[in-house]
Amino acid sequence: MPGYLFVLTYYAGKRLIALTLRFIKGGALVTEPLLIQGGMGVAVSNWRLARAVSAEGHLGVVSGTMLDNVFVRRLQDGDLSGDIRRALAAFPDRLMAERIYHRYHIPGGKQREAPYKSIPMHTARLTRDAQELLILANFVEVFLAKEGHNGLVGINFLEKIQLPTLPSLYGAMLARVDYVLMGAGIPKQIPEILDALSIRQSVSMKLHVEQFPGGDAREAVTRFDPAEFPDLGAGRLNRPKFVAVVSSNTLAEMLAKRSKVDGFVVENHTAGGHNAPPRGGIKLDDRGEPVYTARDSVDLGKMRSLGLPFWLAGSYGNDGKLKEALEEGAVGIQVGTPFAFCEESGFSDELKKEVLTRAINGDLSVSTDVLASSSNYPFKIASIPGTLSEDEVYESRERVCDLGYLRTLFFKEDGTIGYRCPGEPVDNYLRKGGRLEDTECRKCLCNGLMAAVDYPQVPKNGEVEKPLVTAGQSVNNIIRFLPPGKNSYSARDVVKLLVGALREPHYVF
Ligand SMILES: Cc1cc2nc3c(=O)[nH]c(=O)nc-3n(C[C@H](O)[C@H](O)[C@H](O)COP(=O)(O)O)c2cc1C
Repeated sequence: MPGYLFVLTYYAGKRLIALTLRFIKGGALVTEPLLIQGGMGVAVSNWRLARAVSAEGHLGVVSGTMLDNVFVRRLQDGDLSGDIRRALAAFPDRLMAERIYHRYHIPGGKQREAPYKSIPMHTARLTRDAQELLILANFVEVFLAKEGHNGLVGINFLEKIQLPTLPSLYGAMLARVDYVLMGAGIPKQIPEILDALSIRQSVSMKLHVEQFPGGDAREAVTRFDPAEFPDLGAGRLNRPKFVAVVSSNTLAEMLAKRSKVDGFVVENHTAGGHNAPPRGGIKLDDRGEPVYTARDSVDLGKMRSLGLPFWLAGSYGNDGKLKEALEEGAVGIQVGTPFAFCEESGFSDELKKEVLTRAINGDLSVSTDVLASSSNYPFKIASIPGTLSEDEVYESRERVCDLGYLRTLFFKEDGTIGYRCPGEPVDNYLRKGGRLEDTECRKCLCNGLMAAVDYPQVPKNGEVEKPLVTAGQSVNNIIRFLPPGKNSYSARDVVKLLVGALREPHYVF
């Protein structure tokens, strides 16, 4: 059993602040949030949700995934609440903010049936426009999440989506983000990048490129230099803490040894979103889902021995799970699914209502699809009529790749970098040297997730993109957050129920 742990809860103003204080290996005292609201892309954990959680004294996390496209679609919907406009007024470079605002803003909002103006897909050499947009979009999301309280705010990125990461981090840091959390890969380059960006030094990141022997390694790099944006200021920036999302203690050990990680979220395969594949290869059960075994459980003894704080995730939004996690040596838990369907989350009202109704009737099922995501990671999909979970809806969609975040990079025969996604039109993929078998059953996560948060594209054929909903395996439990007589619940209801039992000082020895 780990050393002394105190859960300290106190009121700051009217808010309950809950932190764990723990003496970890080597005698250091850590104070960390007890509850992390997991980053949920695309724009499910938006600034509204993160702000609500942070204001309750926990760590609210915005999703940084596809944020530039989310930002321009919000502007094209008119920014009717004026929130973006307000955030832009705090951006250090007013001219840049105005320029981008007017490029995309449509007063009153676009017609529902009109397509959104898109932005060019990312490449290893981002244009000035692309970098500016990423900086601004990430700044705005973090700024709004931090507005009106003194709580902590984090931002979540996926290692698998590398091209937008550097300017995104800078934008989030300009808005004083407190934590960066990253999974879906091995984010070993990020801690040093955060160190450098905090002193506004130029940074670079090695890219994952397929067919590597065919190309020039010097090409497989993306760069960002804050000096090219002198109007964004010159002083030192706060270096956010870096938390890696892992599903194995071996990966945690490697990261702890090789980079300056400040902690880990240890996520199991029941969690919503992408999951790590089973260790030792994918075997499917008779429903076509991957089989996870005892080999996939993380050795928490080894996690404790790393001497770094960690949070447990994957169905931890359930009774007694926070206490259980603390007793296992974690400093807290990360929870996604219960927050994903609360009033403040980005899922469309229609989908939230549908999910809650189905959960109440007990007929909501979630499966793990090993082919849906072009990232090659298993992906949790909720079965909901009218969404891409249904075969007819999936099959009637014409394949289009117009957002391109999950494209992989490969070296072309001439040694330059190409971009391809197994979810794109099959002919295009094959022309780029991709394999036919890789295209089967792929779903367009980019467009499906955008549609789920109510920013659906209207392609040329006029068929509005259909949503795709991801949720964790314990999704049916969300009904316990409904206050008596109500048919929706707030982020605060989730926090109250999960942490409520620990309102009194809690000690574990
Ligand atoms: C709708 C949804 C989207 C998610 N998207 C991401 C993501 O973009 N990045 C990430 O690291 N985790 C993502 N997750 C995982 C959560 O951050 C969290 O770790 C997980 O939901 C915890 O398990 P639970 O769903 O059982 O509570 C997502 C989860 C959900 C439900």
